Amino acid sequence: MTQDLDLLGAADQAGPPTGLTQRLMRTTLLPQVHERYWRPALGRALKGPSGPSMAGEVGLAAQLLRLEPGHTVLDVACGTDRCTRAFGAAVGPGGLAIGLDDARTMLAKAVAEGGPDTVAYLRADAVHLPLKTSTVDALCCFAALHMFAEPETALDSFARVLNRAAGSRC
Ligand SMILES: C[S@@+](CC[C@H](N)C(=O)[O-])C[C@H]1O[C@@H](n2cnc3c(N)ncnc32)[C@H](O)[C@@H]1O
Repeated sequence: MTQDLDLLGAADQAGPPTGLTQRLMRTTLLPQVHERYWRPALGRALKGPSGPSMAGEVGLAAQLLRLEPGHTVLDVACGTDRCTRAFGAAVGPGGLAIGLDDARTMLAKAVAEGGPDTVAYLRADAVHLPLKTSTVDALCCFAALHMFAEPETALDSFARVLNRAAGSRC
């Protein structure tokens, strides 16, 4: 069973607006086509014809993050969740995959898809992560840094939550 927690309450988004693409993520239409059409098309344009497929991207991420049962992994700006469920399967049993996003519409679709018990969703700000220091073994952030108002602050936040003593990966 998947669960979600909303730390943004009535706020429509986490930070200041950063442009059209970010606004589109908050519509009801885009989350319906994001995983199947929007993201694959943009990914193909940026990666070129020989780049990995969408499923290949998820597999590559899980492999590079060296996920193991019992790990805690954070999928920052998870969208409708292309990755979080796969990460949840890789860290189970006993681990946790957290999908974090600030768009209600994206998270609603992710939650509706269901997933393993090792997956949870958090509506929160990716720039100022609401997690304790050194609590995450691995962190993934695909196709979202350009949407953040303060990407450098977000990277600092990623470094803060990673448990570097345990050889964490990002
Ligand atoms: C293009 S989607 C990428 C989704 C997913 N990572 C993927 O690769 O399919 C970008 C996501 O970033 C989220 N986002 C943008 N700014 C954010 C912020 N400040 N905090 C949390 N999520 C944010 C959007 O809501 C959207 O779901």
